[in-house]
Amino acid sequence: MDNKKRLVNTLHEYYRLYEKADLRDNDYRFHMEQSISELIGVLDYFGDRKFENFIELGGSYGGSFWVYSTLLCKPGSKLIVTDRNSRVKGLQLVVNALNEKGFKAKWYCQPNLEIKKVMNFQVELLHIDAFHTYEAVKEDFKTFAPLVNKGGFILFHDAATQPGVTQLMREIPVTNIIEAKVGFHCGIGILKR
Ligand SMILES: C[S@@+](CC[C@H](N)C(=O)[O-])C[C@H]1O[C@@H](n2cnc3c(N)ncnc32)[C@H](O)[C@@H]1O
Repeated sequence: MDNKKRLVNTLHEYYRLYEKADLRDNDYRFHMEQSISELIGVLDYFGDRKFENFIELGGSYGGSFWVYSTLLCKPGSKLIVTDRNSRVKGLQLVVNALNEKGFKAKWYCQPNLEIKKVMNFQVELLHIDAFHTYEAVKEDFKTFAPLVNKGGFILFHDAATQPGVTQLMREIPVTNIIEAKVGFHCGIGILKR
């Protein structure tokens, strides 16, 4: 199946989580802030590779966490998502649905920097998509990049549109950058460690 079909199928499944939500509560929402064509670019880039450990910083309503977990990881993979905003309630339904599929997923509803204290393992994939100022992205990068093992990957969302993200990516030694940007709608930076 091509990546466009895989993406559309998994998004159907993601939006069907509305069936499990209490729709009288407006905090139950499902939404993904990624460009579809850029996501297909990322999936094409990784091919058949499946990651065993994945952390996403800034899960929001769980859209990108769902897509990267279901398409780039496999049942049994350890998945962590952070979002300090407890009002993004749909994220818990995303985590529950991933656990029902056999993933080991957990949401930390705390600021990223507090979560680092409980991370005692290495990851293969890190997606940085929390607060986008230069200072915030740099702090997230400095704190979490050391958890990514050699040969692992770091994805930056909004690498084309958010000056803080663009600036930080420019500062990373060029030898570590295997692909600067996928697309220019939002831009997804891919770094290999
Ligand atoms: C741009 S949205 C993430 C979008 C999501 N990745 C997607 O594509 O569907 C950023 C989220 O990061 C969260 N956030 C920002 N700074 C944070 C921090 N320091 N710790 C934890 N979460 C944070 C916000 O609450 C917000 O929901």
